[in-house]
Amino acid sequence: MERTLIILKPDAVQRALVGELITRLERRGLRISGLKLIHVTEALAGEHYREHVGKGFFPGLVAYITSAPVVVMAVDGPGAIALVRTTVGVTKPAEAAPGTIRADYGVDIGRNLIHASANAADAERELGLWFGAGEVIEYRRDVDRWIVEG
Ligand code: RTP
Ligand code: MG
Repeated sequence: MERTLIILKPDAVQRALVGELITRLERRGLRISGLKLIHVTEALAGEHYREHVGKGFFPGLVAYITSAPVVVMAVDGPGAIALVRTTVGVTKPAEAAPGTIRADYGVDIGRNLIHASANAADAERELGLWFGAGEVIEYRRDVDRWIVEG
């Protein structure tokens, strides 16, 4: 089992796509282990996107992610980190494969709806950044045995 961090960005919340996007993740078989609505501070945005500090798009990225509330989620599943990235699609919606979230709902890199941790190190760091102790819950669903063998 792996755990990854997902952010439904301000455009997803403003466009009232939260339910639809969560449904897609649940239908894939992923289990939600953390979920909350947050209005992101500049400090948290800068820390989350610290790898992009100094790049041309950084000010716009921080303005975007702090512009309105986001929904942040921890989700669990086998190989969840890579699996969610595949479900999300590549960064530019125009280049994302049909059937991915960014292709199916977006057109602009600056409004690409959703974030997902890129790798195991990022997932661990980001889960610690966005969720406090006790905010991520370990549990099993009865349906899990119909989603994952064994
Ligand atoms: P994310 O971190 O949000 O999941 O997206 P990602 O890994 O696919 O892409 P990344 O390279 O980490 O970029 C982070 C976010 O910055 C915005 N961006 N804008 N205008 C641009 O050239 C540009 N490049 C990146 C996007 O919102 C991207 O998701
Ligand atoms: Mg990224």
